[in-house]
Amino acid sequence: MSLQKILDEIDSRRQHHVEDLFEFLRIPSISTYSQHTGDIRHAADWVSSRLARLGFRTRIHETARHPVVFAQGPQRPDRPTLLIYGHYDVQPPEPLAEWATPPFSPSIRDGFVYARGATDDKGQFLTYIKAMEAILDVSGEIPVNVKVLAEGEEEIGSPSLEAFLRQCPELFKADAVAISDGSQCALGIPTITYSLRGLCYFQLDVQGPRMDLHSGIYGGIVVNPAQALAEILAKLKTPDGRVAIPGFYDDVLPLEKWESDELAALSPDEDDVKGYLGVSEFTGEQGFSVMERLTARPTLDVNGIWGGFAGEGAKTVIPAKAGAKVSLRLAPRQESAAISRLFREFVLSVTPPGVTLEITELQHGADPVLVSRGSTSVQAAARAIETGFGRAPVFLREGASIPVVSLFKNVLGLEDILLLPWGRPDDGAHSPDERFSLEDFHRGIRSAAALFFELA
Ligand code: BES
Ligand code: MN
Ligand code: MN
Repeated sequence: MSLQKILDEIDSRRQHHVEDLFEFLRIPSISTYSQHTGDIRHAADWVSSRLARLGFRTRIHETARHPVVFAQGPQRPDRPTLLIYGHYDVQPPEPLAEWATPPFSPSIRDGFVYARGATDDKGQFLTYIKAMEAILDVSGEIPVNVKVLAEGEEEIGSPSLEAFLRQCPELFKADAVAISDGSQCALGIPTITYSLRGLCYFQLDVQGPRMDLHSGIYGGIVVNPAQALAEILAKLKTPDGRVAIPGFYDDVLPLEKWESDELAALSPDEDDVKGYLGVSEFTGEQGFSVMERLTARPTLDVNGIWGGFAGEGAKTVIPAKAGAKVSLRLAPRQESAAISRLFREFVLSVTPPGVTLEITELQHGADPVLVSRGSTSVQAAARAIETGFGRAPVFLREGASIPVVSLFKNVLGLEDILLLPWGRPDDGAHSPDERFSLEDFHRGIRSAAALFFELA
């Protein structure tokens, strides 16, 4: 069967593909909010029904929280097996007022579909299903064995997935894994990702006096928990942008010269990025380029902070409590469990006397990962991308995290993990007005179709 016939069929179905994407995007499958549990279920059913239509054996597995969809087509022993992973859950859409159109009413403007989940990850994941539909309709069979794993907990750190994978590891046996859930280097530069950073995420709760106090009556003797929290947070980084936790950098794999050179060649114009972000300066570790800091070096961020009086006007008060959420991005060879211990020890050591601190790990940590960029399946993926996008991909590390990837590698021993991002850095994943270029959606479907043939 010629791939060209299938690509032509995909070209002729553009309108239908967009309509189906809209249907998927209308389901508000927000994994972190318990009131959306029913929507999560609906999205799992939706994915499962699409796979059943392909003739796949499909099953929705219960976990402690949100279901996992696992499906497989016919498995022939003489053919290689591709495992496709995606997530059907999305991030919360707030702040709602910042959206030009509502997050779960997809709409098209200037060649982009705008909706929560458009690029992360419903649009990117759907490309594989649409590619398989076209292949089956044109030729009656997919030239490799296909397994699909879709989860509804990626955006909350995939807490149930490790246990699920360990229950029946044989089920996920595959010669290669394909994941499209990220960004290309830049517009017009298709990309294969070969590293992801890991993640640790904590909540800090500082408790001071038993209740909010009059700051005139008690000010001067009581340790203020908001001030204490600010002091703790300020000690987490040095003024020159390094993480101040002792031992934090010990296990980081240093970059070799060739890799720094390669990253430098892919660097965007810094003033363009500053303009897009609306910032005047960058921060981060001295001695490392912007691209290195974005993708290959670890970092720490305060994600949220609260405490005391934030209402209208002035209230003279010493708050009883204050809190913050803090996350760390980990670079390859750092381990989330070890970093978690270092973080706890350090934060406790810098907590001033007179308040108590509670540290809660909010997510199961994700380990960083480096995957092969030289295997025959990576070469196959590069050819598939060239077919779909009209240009050979570059190789780039990614600064964000996908927890399942280190599980695939370390728990299942899968080596050939193809990270094939169809999105763009300015798609606004997790932001208001998240979008996905219809052109990238279409090219992603074409690339996915080509991938099945290249792997065969
Ligand atoms: N798809 C993203 C990760 C991503 C974004 C990769 C952009 C490449 C480019 C994924 O859904 C995500 O948001 N991951 C979270 C981690 C998770 C544990 C909440 C992240 O990186 O913050
Ligand atoms: Mn994602
Ligand atoms: Mn995400």
